[in-house]
Amino acid sequence: MLRQVLLGVSRSTRIKKAVTAMPVSSGIVSRFVAGETADTAVLATEKLVSTGLNVTIDHLGEDTTNPVEAQIALDNARTICHAARNAGTTVTLDMEDHTTTDSTLEILRELRQDFPETGAVLQAYLHRTEADCRDLAHAGSRVRLCKGAYKEPESVAFQAKADVDKSYVRCLKVLMKGSGYPMVASHDPRLIAIAGSLADRYGREQGTYEYQMLYGVRPDEQLRLSHEGNTVRVYIPYGQDWYGYLVRRMAEKPANLQFFLRSLISKK
Ligand code: FDA
Repeated sequence: MLRQVLLGVSRSTRIKKAVTAMPVSSGIVSRFVAGETADTAVLATEKLVSTGLNVTIDHLGEDTTNPVEAQIALDNARTICHAARNAGTTVTLDMEDHTTTDSTLEILRELRQDFPETGAVLQAYLHRTEADCRDLAHAGSRVRLCKGAYKEPESVAFQAKADVDKSYVRCLKVLMKGSGYPMVASHDPRLIAIAGSLADRYGREQGTYEYQMLYGVRPDEQLRLSHEGNTVRVYIPYGQDWYGYLVRRMAEKPANLQFFLRSLISKK
């Protein structure tokens, strides 16, 4: 409930103005966002990689509604996929709210013609996702499965946490049983344990799937899983457009919200 309210009011321009007036170095922002420049993402990467973790880097930006900008985004995505391949790495497309799912998966299909290693994000809270997992559980297909972070209507998404979690497990079964490369993007201890059991059940060896978590969220668990021999990747966001991302992190945990409100008040 709180999550839905917070995601809703975050669209207010007054709230956005008040929050983005905070320096990125303030505690609550820097816990979740590496910084505003590429250098800050490189620094965060160096620190995490030195502890045995892998990273995936997100240059923050969202809500592109202009078709011309979207076309430029596809061209840019090709350029980025090229650069990633030259650097020996891969690109995964983030997923925004359900109104963009079809267009994002269409872009994925186009990119995969030249860059089959391009990964997708699927959100377990959407009713459609189990079917999308079936479509994408084939060899060479990299799928990052998360719960989903946007405010979505009942018509398209499960609303209760228990239903989202059950859907996550169903989706995970499809991905683990399939022949693609599942990326288990969750901090939820139950789902992490279930992912390990499913990997055993379907005879997956370490290195044929991986765990992923967000920068600043459960760092001890990231290291624990890595020390057990699992591949663990940390999602590092950076850039000036950090507002929407930060609000979604606040909405996920009430304790973050309290800390955040205190930061705002003490700034005044
Ligand atoms: P849940 O929210 O139930 O949290 C489980 C536990 O994890 C909590 O009890 C708490 O201990 C800890 N936790 C979770 N979030 C926390 C936070 N913000 N602060 C402190 N503790 C926290 N979503 C999306 O819609 N599109 C996308 O493209 C992506 N991409 C993405 C990539 C990666 C690598 C990850 C890990 C996640 C995403 N997400 C995303 C976000 C995802 O949809 C989801 O909102 C968050 O991961 C939180 O869900 P959990 O599975 O962690 O469970």
